[in-house]
Amino acid sequence: MSLIVSILAFLSSSPTNSQTCKSTCGPAPVKYPFGTGSGCGDPRFQTRVTCNNQHLTFITHTGCYPITDIDYSNQIIYITDPSMSTCACTQPSKGFSLDWDAPFSFHDDTVFALLNCDTSSSPVFKADRTNNSVSPVCDSGSGSRVCERLNSCQAVSRLGVPVSTCCVYTPVDLGPSFEMDLQKLNCGSYSGLYGFNEHPDNPDSWKYGVAIKYKFNFDNEYPPMCANCEKSNGVCGYDGAYNSFVCNCRSGINTSMDCSFETTWNGSLTLLHNSNEGLWIYVLASLVASIVFLKF
Ligand SMILES: *[C@@H]1O[C@H](CO)[C@@H](O)[C@H](O)[C@H]1NC(C)=O
Ligand SMILES: *[C@@H]1O[C@H](CO)[C@@H](O)[C@H](O)[C@H]1NC(C)=O
Ligand SMILES: *[C@@H]1O[C@H](CO)[C@@H](O)[C@H](O)[C@H]1NC(C)=O
Repeated sequence: MSLIVSILAFLSSSPTNSQTCKSTCGPAPVKYPFGTGSGCGDPRFQTRVTCNNQHLTFITHTGCYPITDIDYSNQIIYITDPSMSTCACTQPSKGFSLDWDAPFSFHDDTVFALLNCDTSSSPVFKADRTNNSVSPVCDSGSGSRVCERLNSCQAVSRLGVPVSTCCVYTPVDLGPSFEMDLQKLNCGSYSGLYGFNEHPDNPDSWKYGVAIKYKFNFDNEYPPMCANCEKSNGVCGYDGAYNSFVCNCRSGINTSMDCSFETTWNGSLTLLHNSNEGLWIYVLASLVASIVFLKF
């Protein structure tokens, strides 16, 4: 009797929802190389992009930043920094840095404008003056236009500082380990923005945040095993001492291949479920009835 009951309980329990690695974090889709927890996605990204209370978060040694979007086809993560200044609001900030050993770089569209710098002591201005031959740390081309436009924002103009205290720090000069320590640079705050080229004259419509590129691996090739796993509704993960690939299937089972076996398996279970929910209750009821009947 208890065996029958447990078989029935198994059949009527849903085969879904046992997946450790989720394919979403809140409303946002989560795909390789990112993961929703330990053992999910690619291990190199696991501590850098996390799912915190259903919010995708980007983590560096300078802080935790909300991820506003991930463009999976172009491999770009868009983040905001709540401490940065925008056209609408200026505030003091300590800066922003990537971890030197993290698999990220800046998207070329990202512009950093250092605001309210002390021009007499800030190294970004000093370097310019003491050495006429070195390439300037602050961009003087379209960069100065960014500064001009930013200074026309009400919030920035309220700071009451001349546009010459603004410096557009160009990512091409930054190298792989981007470190923007505003205390060292003697600047009060910064703006990170992208989408400047679309509306160069309208700082209200710039997108404030940071666009960050990532690569899957050295060759930037999407691992074929993971592609197959995701195609079969699995989520890519890793396991064991060597972080070997696992495909985490919807039923909670891990395979080293993909989850296509579930389709057949689920097909028959779904059939039982959908067509015969009532029938199973009927079968259970009659079993109980017959056992009760036999006993007495
Ligand atoms: C089983 O199939 C149903 C309906 O086709 C689907 O909603 C569910 O996610 C599937 N479960 C698994 C484990 O694939
Ligand atoms: C499947 O893999 C995930 C990710 O590595 C892990 O968290 C989970 O415990 C594994 N599940 C089983 C049943 O081994
Ligand atoms: C000035 O420029 C020269 C040549 O580019 C370079 O060797 C030198 O280190 C620079 N000095 C400073 C203080 O940046």
